[in-house]
Amino acid sequence: MKILLVGDIVGKGGRRAACKLIPRLRTELGCCYCIANGENVAGGAGLTAKCVEELKSNGVDTITTGDHIWDQKDFVNDVKRYPYVLRPANFSLQQPGRGYGIYNIPIGGTICVINVIGRVFIGRSSDNPFDAVDRILDEMNHRTKIIFVDFHGEATSEKIAMGRHLDGRVTAVFGTHTHVPTADSRVFPGGTAFQCDLGMVGSRQSIIGRDINSVVASFKTGMPARFKVIDKDIELNGAVVEFDPTTGRAKHIERVYQTYDVA
Ligand SMILES: [Fe+2]
Ligand SMILES: [Fe+2]
Repeated sequence: MKILLVGDIVGKGGRRAACKLIPRLRTELGCCYCIANGENVAGGAGLTAKCVEELKSNGVDTITTGDHIWDQKDFVNDVKRYPYVLRPANFSLQQPGRGYGIYNIPIGGTICVINVIGRVFIGRSSDNPFDAVDRILDEMNHRTKIIFVDFHGEATSEKIAMGRHLDGRVTAVFGTHTHVPTADSRVFPGGTAFQCDLGMVGSRQSIIGRDINSVVASFKTGMPARFKVIDKDIELNGAVVEFDPTTGRAKHIERVYQTYDVA
């Protein structure tokens, strides 16, 4: 069985490319399920109901998020309508939304998707992600063997630590947030597939999805600036995980890269 993972989808260009490419990739690669990170899907920051529904109707089954989850204010209420949208499980329990879900896989069986956020070099205060995942795995009590974890974080060391911590207990741990894919995809000895960061669905002529000149100028001068999202010349970054559905252990993980020029 194979599942398609897609990194942070950035803005209109990323959304259009994802909606065009994901259905095709699912068929070509033989994937029965798709998890994508949508934290930047609405104009580069946050999510809207419309964007969520557009992704869902174009082949994304579960949408994970991260530090930008609440950037669009209406989504604080709208999130309740979408059980397939996750926010980091280690955010405060006072926050709306859910941190994990168990979903039906169209060809049979169930999958558990867990979303957590790191605490190193990432702005929000959150609870310990390691404790949060352990608690969820206890709570789930082996209801399914197919378990995918989106670790939304900045520090590679923290993400690798999570991968090693969960090795042999989940099918895959994949990183999101940096918008830059890493070349470390592998299956750990216990049978957990891992990749530090999937990368983004966003412009190749950008700095993590945003206008090059204004980001460079801001680094040079130290002045705050607005960074326009670039919607052209899109690349899609993700991975495919192949696993044994009876054991939930991964056999293979491979990066996916496609380009798409949004006209
Ligand atoms: Fe993020
Ligand atoms: Fe992001």
